[in-house]
This record gives sequence, C-alpha cells and structure tokens, in this order.
Amino acid sequence: MTIALWKNARLVTLSSSTGWGIVDDGAMLTERGMIRWVGALGDLPQDQRVDEAHDLGGAVVTPGLVDCHTHLVYAGARAAEFELRLQGASYEAIARAGGGIRSTVAATRAASGERLYLLALDRLNALQAEGVTTIEIKSGYGLTERDEAKCLRVARRLARERPVTVRTTYLAAHALPPEFEHRDDAYIDAVCEWLTGLHVERLVDAVDAFCERIGFSLAQTQRVFDRAKSLGLPVKLHAEQLSDMGGTALAARYDALSCDHLEYANDDAVRAMAERGTVAVLLPGAYYFLRETKLPPVQALRDAGVPIAIATDHNPGTSPTLSPLLIMNMACTLFRLTPEEALRGMTMNGARALGLHDRGVLAPGMRADFVAWDVEHPNELAYWFGRRACRQVVVAGHAVRS
Ligand code: NIG
Ligand code: FE
Repeated sequence: MTIALWKNARLVTLSSSTGWGIVDDGAMLTERGMIRWVGALGDLPQDQRVDEAHDLGGAVVTPGLVDCHTHLVYAGARAAEFELRLQGASYEAIARAGGGIRSTVAATRAASGERLYLLALDRLNALQAEGVTTIEIKSGYGLTERDEAKCLRVARRLARERPVTVRTTYLAAHALPPEFEHRDDAYIDAVCEWLTGLHVERLVDAVDAFCERIGFSLAQTQRVFDRAKSLGLPVKLHAEQLSDMGGTALAARYDALSCDHLEYANDDAVRAMAERGTVAVLLPGAYYFLRETKLPPVQALRDAGVPIAIATDHNPGTSPTLSPLLIMNMACTLFRLTPEEALRGMTMNGARALGLHDRGVLAPGMRADFVAWDVEHPNELAYWFGRRACRQVVVAGHAVRS
C-alpha cells in the first residue's frame, strides 16, 4: 500500500480540546485513505518509508470541512419570495399562504431525478471548492414516498460519483403537502410508513422533522422519532427556530445527534442537550437571511459544555448560500463565536452532529480528509468573506479535481 508524505504545511490539528493545535513545518503520512502520522517534518523517523511526496507549499492545512445541515436536493429558486419578504411579508405568513417550502415542493416534484442530480451536483461542487469533504443532505421537498425516494437517491448518487462523504437525512416531516390539507396526523402516519420502506432500501442515515407552528407539533414529532428508533435510526431536529416549542428537550430524550437552529432555545433545552450529549447546530445563514433578531443562547451552550457545530443550511428559502467560509464569518460576526469555535463547528463538531467520529481533526487513525488554504493563520478563515482562499482539497488521501 502506498504511503504518502504531505509536507511543508502549517497544520491546524484541533487535536486537543482547546486551541488550534498548530504544528509549524508540519507533515502527515497517509495510507489507505487514513492519516498514519502527524508532526513536525523534523520529527519524522529517518528510516520512514515514503512512496510519494506532496509539497503543500507552506499552506495552512485544516481538517476537511463538514457541512452537517443542508437541503441540497431541490429544484427552483425563491427569489420572488425574497422580494416579498423585503417588502415586509414574514417567512411564516408566506408559508401559511401556501408559498415557502410548498413552492419548492411543487418544483421538486416536477423535476426528474436526473435534473435534480445535475442541480445538486453543481451546488456540491461549489461547496467542495470551498473545502467541504463531508456533507449531510436532507430530503423534505418531495413529500410523497416516490419523491422523497427520488431525492434521497440523488444524494446517494452524489456520493458514488464525487469524492465526498454524504450522510442522508429523511425530512418528510418538513411541511404539510397540499393533498393532506387539514389531515396532518394522517400525513404523519404516511411519513412513518414511508420511512420503513426507504430504510429497507438503505436510503436513510438519520431522521429529522420541522417542529414548529408552521411545521409539526411535539406529539407528531414524537411519532416520527418513535418510528425512527424502532428502526434503529438516529434522530435530529429543526428545533426552536421561530418559536419555543420544546422540541429540543424532546429530541434530547431520544438521544438526538443534534438540534439545529435553536434561536428560541431556553435553559431547559440547553440542559437537556448537555445531559444527552446532543450537538447544537447553529445556522447563521438562515438567521441572516430571515433578518432574525433573537440570538441563539451561545454563552449558555458554552457554559453547559454543549458542542457547537455550524452549517450552511443550504436551501432555497432561508439560506441560499454555497459558502461555508461565509457561514464561519457570520458565526463570528452575528453569533460571536470565536474563529476557533467556528472552525471546530465546521469540522469536528459538525462530524459529531452526524455521528461520525473518524474525522474533523488531524490525528493518526482519522480519515485523510484535509484542506490547504491560502492564508497565514487559521483565524483568517473566519475573517475574509467572499474571498477564494481554498488552494487544495484532499479526500481520503487523494487530491480532489473539480
Ligand atoms: O432549515 N426551517 C425549515 N427548513 C429550512 C427552510 C426550508 C425552506 O424554506 O425551504 C431551514 O431553515
Ligand atoms: Fe434546515
């Protein structure tokens, strides 16, 4: 098996619980897609066998970025809705009037799997050009068994055809489709039934729901979670985004991998997450784009020791961005995360929000997913915005060609 040496890097290992873990004049050995050794080049044993060597040109090198919350597979844009909101209409009012998520559902149902694949591929390539090596992709714009399956198959196909890890999340409990108007409990029955079939087809890695006034109630969310648990699938939740519904505490009782958004999360919610080891996924893109003013309880999360992840939440309604670096910048400017917290949020804690423990730090035994950046210090990753700072992306020990 080939042993590769990657040298001439300023490594940002994140390998201890605090601090960047910088190794200057750093080097890594990789073999079979894994990191074997990390350290200063001068400490590499003299007799170490090396089959190929790569010069990283003095770049800052971090773990590959993990975008742990996206809705990547859909058709149609929502720029007209954006204009309505700029004129004063609220996201909630537009949703209640049948727009919002439902308009993306109509466009997504009308699109073929091939068309959805090409649209999502383009978005994935843009994210990867900015360092993403692992991505979560939710369904939730099909809302029929056939259309949810269509979208989840697109996500699986992306993983087969691009060098990236994809984790799929079933989010049929995202909005009530028009054919179930006033029959939301019957819709939840259907959501649970479809899940069983999709799970047999191995299309689902986790299960999510939108627990909100314009989404589903606590009791309905609980029914979806019960079905997920009976199939052995982990859960996560869109929780307390627009109001305090108590979804976070419910999800924590189901040992959720993560609760996401959390602007309205209260102290009980924070405590529940801390007790069950649930990751808080903050989504500054949606906060920014909806011009929200209620901040998530960042200091309470820190004080309670809840791991904080951040993600793009890429979707056409609340976060139409393809820039993880912009999201890191927003996490700092809007939510007051430190640049180090932002990087941890988009690497190790993002991985944790997906239940992945083999990535997100540069250390022996971890996957060889890493990114070389055109900056001098990792704090610049959250500092520049709109700058193309990514020099090279490496996935499982192989340089990615875009
Ligand atoms: O994460 N809040 C629910 N889901 C998405 C938005 C979906 C949409 O508006 O299309 C979110 O913000
Ligand atoms: Fe979302």
